[in-house]
Amino acid sequence: MKPIVFIKAAMSLDGKIATKTGESQWISNVQSREYVHQLRAEYEAICVGVQTVILDNPRLTIRQNGHETSHIRMVLDTKGRIPLESNLLNDSFKHLTIIFTSDLIPKDIEDKIIHKGVKLIKLKLKDNRIDLQDWLSECEKLGIRSIFVEGGGEVIASMLSYGIVDKIAVAIAPIIIGGKDAKGFVAGEGIEKLSDAIQLENPNIKWFGDDCILEYNVKKRENYENVKY
Ligand SMILES: NC(=O)c1ccc[n+]([C@@H]2O[C@H](COP(=O)([O-])OP(=O)(O)OC[C@H]3O[C@@H](n4cnc5c(N)ncnc54)[C@H](OP(=O)(O)O)[C@@H]3O)[C@@H](O)[C@H]2O)c1
Repeated sequence: MKPIVFIKAAMSLDGKIATKTGESQWISNVQSREYVHQLRAEYEAICVGVQTVILDNPRLTIRQNGHETSHIRMVLDTKGRIPLESNLLNDSFKHLTIIFTSDLIPKDIEDKIIHKGVKLIKLKLKDNRIDLQDWLSECEKLGIRSIFVEGGGEVIASMLSYGIVDKIAVAIAPIIIGGKDAKGFVAGEGIEKLSDAIQLENPNIKWFGDDCILEYNVKKRENYENVKY
C-alpha cells in the first residue's frame, strides 16, 4: 500500500512560511512546535526539499521531554545540492537519512554522501525534478507506511500537484510577514481557475496559546491535470 502523506507547515496569518530572505525559525510558538514533535513521532519518515536543508540546516529529529530520537529523514535533492556539512549528513542519526536524488548528481558528491554512511537512492526525473510517483513507490518498497512532509513551499506544491497528499496541517501564527518574494505555504505556478482548486474536508482546529493548528483531509479526485501548484 502507498504510504500516507501528511503535509505540515508553520505560516504567518498572511500565508508566508519564511521572510523574503528565507528566515523561518521560528514562525510558530513553543507550544505548537511541541505539538509538531508529537506529530513527527507518529510518522515513520520525515521529508523536506533540499532548499530547506540549505537555508535552515534542520535536524528533523523528535525532541520530547529532553530526549532526542529520530525516525527516517528524507531529502528530495535532484542534483546533489545538499551541503556536505549539513546536520542530516553528519549527526548521530545520519544512518537514518535518505537522500533521494537522480543521475544529475555529480559522482564526487554521490561518493562523499555514501562515504558518510548515508543512504542515497537515485530516482527518475519528471520536469527536471524528482518524479514523486517514483519516490512514493520507492518509499513503499522500503516498507515506509507514513511520511510527514515539512516543506518547503516548492515540495508542498509538487506533492499537491501529483495528488499524493492525504492530510494537511498548518500552524498559523499571529504575525504578518508580507512581501511578494516571501515564500508562501504552496509555491509552484498556481492554478488558473478556482474550479481546479484542491478541496479540503474534515477540519479540525487546536489552539496553542495564540497560534492555531488547522488540520484537514485532502478530498481525493480523479484528475490532477490542471493542478499546477
Ligand atoms: N515555515 C515552515 O513550516 C517551513 C518549513 C520548511 C521550510 N520553510 C522555508 O521554506 C524555504 C524553502 O522552501 P523552498 O520552497 O524554497 O524549497 P524546498 O521546497 O525546501 O526545496 C525545493 C527543492 O527541492 C528539490 N526537489 C526535488 N524534487 C522536487 C520535486 N519533485 N518538487 C519540488 N522540489 C523538488 C528541488 O531542487 P533542485 O532545484 O535542485 O531540483 C527544489 O528546488 C526556506 O526559506 C525555509 O526556511 C519553512
